[in-house]
Amino acid sequence: MAERLLITGATGFIGRALCQVLSPRGYDLRLLLRPSRSIRGLPPGRSEVAIASLSDARSLRAALVGVQTIIHLASAEGEHRRRDLLATDVEGTALLVEQARLAGVRRVVYLSHIGASRISAFPFLQAKGMAEQILLESGLPTCILRTSSVFGPEDSFTNVIAMAASAMPVAFLVPQGQPQLQPLWIGDLVAAIDLALREEIGFGQVLSIGGPEHLTIDDVVQTVLIACRRSRVLVRVWPPYLRLGANLLDAFLPYSPLTPYWVDYLAVNRTCEANALARWFGIRPARLADRLDYLRHGRGLRGLMRFIWRGPLTLSAG
Ligand SMILES: NC(=O)c1ccc[n+]([C@@H]2O[C@H](COP(=O)([O-])OP(=O)(O)OC[C@H]3O[C@@H](n4cnc5c(N)ncnc54)[C@H](OP(=O)(O)O)[C@@H]3O)[C@@H](O)[C@H]2O)c1
Repeated sequence: MAERLLITGATGFIGRALCQVLSPRGYDLRLLLRPSRSIRGLPPGRSEVAIASLSDARSLRAALVGVQTIIHLASAEGEHRRRDLLATDVEGTALLVEQARLAGVRRVVYLSHIGASRISAFPFLQAKGMAEQILLESGLPTCILRTSSVFGPEDSFTNVIAMAASAMPVAFLVPQGQPQLQPLWIGDLVAAIDLALREEIGFGQVLSIGGPEHLTIDDVVQTVLIACRRSRVLVRVWPPYLRLGANLLDAFLPYSPLTPYWVDYLAVNRTCEANALARWFGIRPARLADRLDYLRHGRGLRGLMRFIWRGPLTLSAG
């Protein structure tokens, strides 16, 4: 009988890409969706759907019947509120784990961030650190993959930089301090998860993985600008001003391209060993500049407006 996988967060950027790779592998995929008036962003491919809230033990129990493996991607990170992070990422993970143990789930894959820590000053890293601890102490064999920023056609990272450039025709604002990132191509991440499942890699461990390069935010922005054939002068902004701007945009726009989450994200380096993906999974990761074809026909100002009014899901609409 095919192995049954429950995927939370399957409608997000990473979940949708992962389902496309796992769907033809012969797994029996069950997607956990939260109760909502409309179901948007369902990944293509064959799968069944379970509607359950991460705060409702009974519906989680029903969703977990017959499940051997959970891939836990659901996160309120995109919603940028500490309250949501606690409810979804921490308490939701705790309840999911509790119900998974009762249901006899065999193993869990969890996606986290480089820098996750229960004592981090940054709410999203603190929530990830707390969720990691819940999983590690649960007794369920868990593969925790910590990554730097992931990029791909439906990301809210390179796409947002490209769209923001269309709203800043002369200068592009970047934070002072030049934190380093290690952008990871979505195709390499989902290949690593696929291998972790098939070859039982990393269960009981926390693996930090990233792309092949340590890039400053200047490097990332310049690479994206080249990919979408734009030229801008980079202007450095003192981080407290950037945070003020992010708080204002976040307060007034339905979906802001610059959020307090990103200001936190760019506060310190988000890097690990450059050869980690090769060492753990035998994958030679792609360079940022080599995979940005999807930005060539940039979404521009119209795309930015659609993103602001309707959210990241508009990125999957092309
Ligand atoms: N993207 C990155 O660069 C990156 C890097 C490292 C780690 N990660 C981690 O990888 C995971 C997936 O990231 P992503 O970029 O794919 O995120 P995303 O695009 O923001 O997707 C988030 C997913 O979580 C679901 N979700 C949010 N709140 C929920 C709730 N209360 N109950 C159930 N589902 C809920 C969303 O469902 P709806 O469709 O209903 O909103 C969506 O499917 C996250 O845990 C993130 O922290 C991401």
